[in-house]
Amino acid sequence: MSQDVIVVQGPCKLQGEVQVSGAKNSALKLMAAALLGQGRTCLRNVPDISDISIMSKVLKRLGATVEREDHVMWVDTAKVEKFETPYQLVSKMRASISVLGPLIGRFGRARVAMPGGCQIGARKIDMHLVGLEKLGVEFSVDHGYLSATTPHGLRAAEVMLTFPSVGATENMLMAAVTAEGTSVIDNAAREPEIVDLCNMLNEMGCKVSGGGSPCIQVEGVSLDELHPCDHVTVGDRIEAGTFLTGGALTGGPVTVRGIDPSFLRMACMKLEDMGATVETGADWICVRRDGPLKPTDIQTLPHPGFPTDLQAQFMLLDACAQGNSVVTENVFENRFMFAAELMRMGADIAIDGHHATVHGVESLQGAPVSSTDLRAGAALVLAGCFAEGETQVYGVDHIDRGYENYVAKLNQLGGTVTRVSADSLQ
Ligand code: UD1
Repeated sequence: MSQDVIVVQGPCKLQGEVQVSGAKNSALKLMAAALLGQGRTCLRNVPDISDISIMSKVLKRLGATVEREDHVMWVDTAKVEKFETPYQLVSKMRASISVLGPLIGRFGRARVAMPGGCQIGARKIDMHLVGLEKLGVEFSVDHGYLSATTPHGLRAAEVMLTFPSVGATENMLMAAVTAEGTSVIDNAAREPEIVDLCNMLNEMGCKVSGGGSPCIQVEGVSLDELHPCDHVTVGDRIEAGTFLTGGALTGGPVTVRGIDPSFLRMACMKLEDMGATVETGADWICVRRDGPLKPTDIQTLPHPGFPTDLQAQFMLLDACAQGNSVVTENVFENRFMFAAELMRMGADIAIDGHHATVHGVESLQGAPVSSTDLRAGAALVLAGCFAEGETQVYGVDHIDRGYENYVAKLNQLGGTVTRVSADSLQ
């Protein structure tokens, strides 16, 4: 575990341009999908973050070779023969569970340690299992492992998810691609990363339609028809949204490049509600704010609603706005731990269940604070850019999971941010 601390000298104004990396939440699933290609798949625009390293280890444990050069990754799954993912890796990253679908799609079986999850609620996998069972998968649990078998083969099914879960949609999709017949996933997640996965699966020879809509159809093909592909990962809308928040907080202008603005329509609308000016181009978004920061209510919802992964960043904006607002978290239980840390910097927030009432304050004070998850960690660093004095953000390993070169990118925008070892601060 990293013992580093990010130290911010505030206040500092963030302005300029930054290139966003490929989406973490896409790249992880694209790597898992490479299992279906049974050969050497090339993935481009893969972010250099620790979650990707863990997924590389998961694939290597299954027998794949994974090579990378800058942001290009080659995943060769030709020699994969194993189908077991150990607890040691799944416990480090819940998204390891995304190999379940492609392993079932390829081998008709899988054995995956039950995930623990990060500290944002129970994060169950019941919907993954119900959906896969409809495809003919039988599950048993022994010694903390989930074993999946398909004694009667994989058969197409129509599945209605009770909630548009991203992970359940992806696992269903990656198993259904080799099921006999045409499957339908209704109430499917519509996140841009799902569309990216559907596109890659089609490049591999799958027959998927409706990605990005609530109803995805998967016409099963035989495994022999699937092959490796060369695919470019979409830009990371959450990384982009994080830097845009920094621009709106400190005034900007901040331009993020490498992102399709349609991925962030709701967040951009909220930035405008808060008094910022947002301009967009084919693959960039620019935010600036000249007037006061105005409060706005936020409700997290599945895409195209407001993303839960930007909830902490926008709570920070509300905490520094002129007035009161309510932030409602509908996607995860227990995702308000960030508020307690922000209150240590002078924010005025009252939590009641899944609602947070935020009373804007004029300024924040630098303080030692801890990342409670990766998005909260990134938001605390932004809070440090707005605050008076020095902020020390502990728990940097959370930030490393999802942000490539966060400190360097903030400094490129004019931040005064350093990364030091915790020992050097004692
Ligand atoms: C993915 C993203 C995460 C994002 C989330 C919602 C990755 C690696 N992670 O997580 O960054 O915050 O989407 O946009 O892509 N649930 C159940 N049963 C299930 C599955 C989910 O109850 O079987 C619940 C979860 O506990 C959670 C909610 O549904 O409260 C949403 O989960 P889901 O959409 O599945 O998120 P993840 O795929 O885990």
